[in-house]
Amino acid sequence: MLEKKTEQEAKNAILEMVKEYCDTYHNTKKKFSEGDRIPYASRVYDSDEMCNLVDSALEFWLTSDRYTEKFEKSFANYLGVRYCSLVNSGSSANLCAFMALTSPLLGKRQVKPGDEMITVAAGFPTTVTPAIQYGVVPVFIDVTIPQYNMDVTKLETALTDKTKVVMAAHTLGNPFDLTEVKAFCEKYNLWMIEDNCDALGTKYVINGEEKFSGTIGDIGTSSFYPPHHMTMGEGGAVYTDDSLLNKCIRSMRDWGRDCVCASGQDNFCGHRFEKQYGELPWDMIINMYTHTLVTT
Ligand SMILES: Cc1ncc(COP(=O)(O)O)c(C=O)c1O
Repeated sequence: MLEKKTEQEAKNAILEMVKEYCDTYHNTKKKFSEGDRIPYASRVYDSDEMCNLVDSALEFWLTSDRYTEKFEKSFANYLGVRYCSLVNSGSSANLCAFMALTSPLLGKRQVKPGDEMITVAAGFPTTVTPAIQYGVVPVFIDVTIPQYNMDVTKLETALTDKTKVVMAAHTLGNPFDLTEVKAFCEKYNLWMIEDNCDALGTKYVINGEEKFSGTIGDIGTSSFYPPHHMTMGEGGAVYTDDSLLNKCIRSMRDWGRDCVCASGQDNFCGHRFEKQYGELPWDMIINMYTHTLVTT
């Protein structure tokens, strides 16, 4: 069937069939219109999504590449922040966001084991587990009813000289009192992480400016697990407007690397072989590199 076709022609033919398949077997019910009710965890998609999915599979590039790059740029742009890093889940996004704060690059503000993080008692498990895993003590404050968001009148009581971070989720799309929490964090020089996994698209007016939730603290996180606003099957994102935090987030996401090269890129800065790395013997590094080149 694909004989005598170039690779691009073959791909186009497959995608044409995928479109027809989707339109015939998947989109048989009423087409979605803006304002229609979407039941919890249901999916709204059409042949564009299915074609993108298959297009990506046909390329068979198994790590991040052009779709990731495009998504990161567009998502950051939508949110109005400069940096976004795609990860494999909302829980990983929370882990990356929290662990970024443990980077020595942050100097005195580096979060260390034994420090404390103010969070909320009725929340999502993986908003808190990164802190516990690292040895930071979560200090829980209660929620107000019926909002089920943190009771900001308890913030001052929860504060100690070990407090370094406030990290909490916006409950069911309703943001917590961002004005109060932001002011509290600024007053005491604390990091603020918004677990925005349940609140993507929520707008909030702060200091007269309308912003998206997730972009008011230092770092925001999203989950793209199916019940959320947008899905990739599994997926998540970490975003910030701060270039140093972005550097820490990227490093945490990419195995602790301290390098700007994208996946598959090498020696972008042109200085890879000009540095002494700690006390490692120089000739060993050159040998290692030459060996890698020869064997890959
Ligand atoms: C508030 C909140 N944070 C984090 C997560 C974790 O996201 P994921 O399931 O993608 O790991 C969820 C998932 O539902 C969530 O609701």
